[in-house]
Amino acid sequence: MAKLDNRERYARYKEDVEKRGKPFYPYAMFHDTVMSLVVVSVITALAAIWYFTSGEEPGDAGLLGPRYTEEADPGTTSFVPRPDWYFFFLFYLLRIFKWPESVILGTVGIPTILLILLFALPFIDRRRERRLVRRPVAVVAALLVIASMGILTWEGATAEEPSATAGSVLCEANDLDCEGNEELALGADVFAEAGCLSCHVYAGEGAQNIGAPELTTVGDLGRGEEYWVEWVRNPQAIRPGSPMPGFPNLTEEQLQAVAVFLEASTGGG
Ligand code: HEC
Repeated sequence: MAKLDNRERYARYKEDVEKRGKPFYPYAMFHDTVMSLVVVSVITALAAIWYFTSGEEPGDAGLLGPRYTEEADPGTTSFVPRPDWYFFFLFYLLRIFKWPESVILGTVGIPTILLILLFALPFIDRRRERRLVRRPVAVVAALLVIASMGILTWEGATAEEPSATAGSVLCEANDLDCEGNEELALGADVFAEAGCLSCHVYAGEGAQNIGAPELTTVGDLGRGEEYWVEWVRNPQAIRPGSPMPGFPNLTEEQLQAVAVFLEASTGGG
């Protein structure tokens, strides 16, 4: 085909439409309506099969899986929320960006840059070439996106959860003699199960969040057990505006045990 300039191409396109084209209304609209109906019917049918073949009891699976696997426990303090697998890549991305240095970059910066690129794409890429072999930049970009999403999904799926850690692991990691001290062992368990590790790093366990300090050697501060009891119950009473949430639901015994555990944490036993 001889090279045509844009004006000629446009004229030829208009001519084509006139001769062989079909108007949007009613043809395309009819197609879209039928297709939407098919999609909605399939989803409705799947939902009905799932519902009517499964039972009331937890784990009572029908053809398409159970309605739910466990009774919900509204009082849990150690539940670790995990997204469905198709969000693992986002979930893992959030772990890569650390508070506070790179969180703005991760949550606002990168999405904004990508959106601007997407808007600009029709103005940047104005060639008519559609064959993949002639579009190396687009193809490499697409492959990179797919590969990084794949890797992030894998990492997110295999990431260890903070609360999977048992108290005894913390004791061992920080050289505390929890086997010989019941209160210390209880404190370590409470610390592991109450969710402290979702913000604090302790002896290499847990993940740092919202700027919480590492607590491996927090006993060295010498604040004393009474102080820790009050701190964990309600940090804002001691340091107004502190971002750490209080734990008023812990019992006196649990608070006291956590305080013993914190005070004993001096790094190296
Ligand atoms: C939602 C995140 C979060 C959770 C969960 C959390 N903390 Fe904190 N913690 C913080 C932050 C943030 C700070 C720093 C607070 C400040 O400087 O005001 C902090 C500070 C501390 C400190 C140091 C206080 C000091 O005087 O320097 C201790 C000890 C502590 N937390 C213990 C705990 C324990 C024990 C738990 C679990 C029962 C826990 N934290 C759960 C965020 C958290």
